[in-house]
Amino acid sequence: MTQTPPAFPASRPRRIRQSAAIRGLVRENTLTVDDLIWPVFVRDGDGVEEPVHSMPGVVRRSVDKVVEAAREARDLGIPVICLFPYTDPSLKTEDCAEAWNPDNLSNRATRAIKAAVPDIAVMTDVALDPYNINGHDGFVVGGEILNDETVAALVKQALSQAEAGADIIGPSDMMDGRIGALRSALESHGHQNVMLLSYAAKYASAFYGPFRDAVGASGALKGDKTTYQMDPANSDEALRMVARDIQEGADMVMVKPGMPYLDVCRRVKEAFGVPTYAYQVSGEYAMIQGAAQNGWIDGDKAMMESLMCFKRAGCDGILTYFAPAVARKLAGQ
Ligand code: PBG
Repeated sequence: MTQTPPAFPASRPRRIRQSAAIRGLVRENTLTVDDLIWPVFVRDGDGVEEPVHSMPGVVRRSVDKVVEAAREARDLGIPVICLFPYTDPSLKTEDCAEAWNPDNLSNRATRAIKAAVPDIAVMTDVALDPYNINGHDGFVVGGEILNDETVAALVKQALSQAEAGADIIGPSDMMDGRIGALRSALESHGHQNVMLLSYAAKYASAFYGPFRDAVGASGALKGDKTTYQMDPANSDEALRMVARDIQEGADMVMVKPGMPYLDVCRRVKEAFGVPTYAYQVSGEYAMIQGAAQNGWIDGDKAMMESLMCFKRAGCDGILTYFAPAVARKLAGQ
């Protein structure tokens, strides 16, 4: 509860802002390296780091380079690295079979990281879009995104990721019933300790544009994702989605995108008190980096402020492409 302050001059709120030390003393929220999940893009090849033009400072890495990145992240104290594959277009099909290939790019990267850097947690993405010739997160038949058939495929995909050693599985597909299906499949296949971080409140957002470039899904996507991702106008619905996903077995929940949806983060955290994450998505990253590169804002300060806002909104952590830069800054490097 906040207290109404006494009238001026008994109250001079500027007294507690007078120096950096006092501001530190009264600060309500903190951002630490423990709060960071670092999304990285994986591509095939060896020794490759290829820039993503719409995300200045972000690259697609071959598996050996992803392992190097994981080592660097672990040394900085970042607890989780999250993998997104850029799939060769020749492997994209209507049946998306590459999604559950035990040797697909994501699974190869997971195995390589777990072998070389066992103490960083690996998070993987469950959704069909990197493998789908249509660019959609689910199977498309006659223009419709099929729900139940997609869930069955997501189960195969998630099991292949768990077999490869994923610690946290992040279903980003927004199909109905997938958390329950994934949880029971993980249980019955001996993966009781694999965590589910559900993209519970994922909105149909224009801020995913640069990500779709990064994973090579932009050209492929026909239509939009409004029949499965949420309407940006809604927030009661977000609470229903989170309630359902917790009920079905999610360990942690996510709101996505982040900055335009801080009100949703706050409502979710207050209503459920479960570990709550925000995804500061590619478009948010691109806006800050783009403006900074033009000299229109101070990029470093905007980065730190944007992440602190998630903590203020009640989030326990943030998926952010800034993770290594933030970690270095927090470490005074
Ligand atoms: C798709 C997926 C998307 C992102 C993560 N997983 C894009 C989409 O839904 O089209 C976006 C992440 C970002 O923009 O940084 N399964």
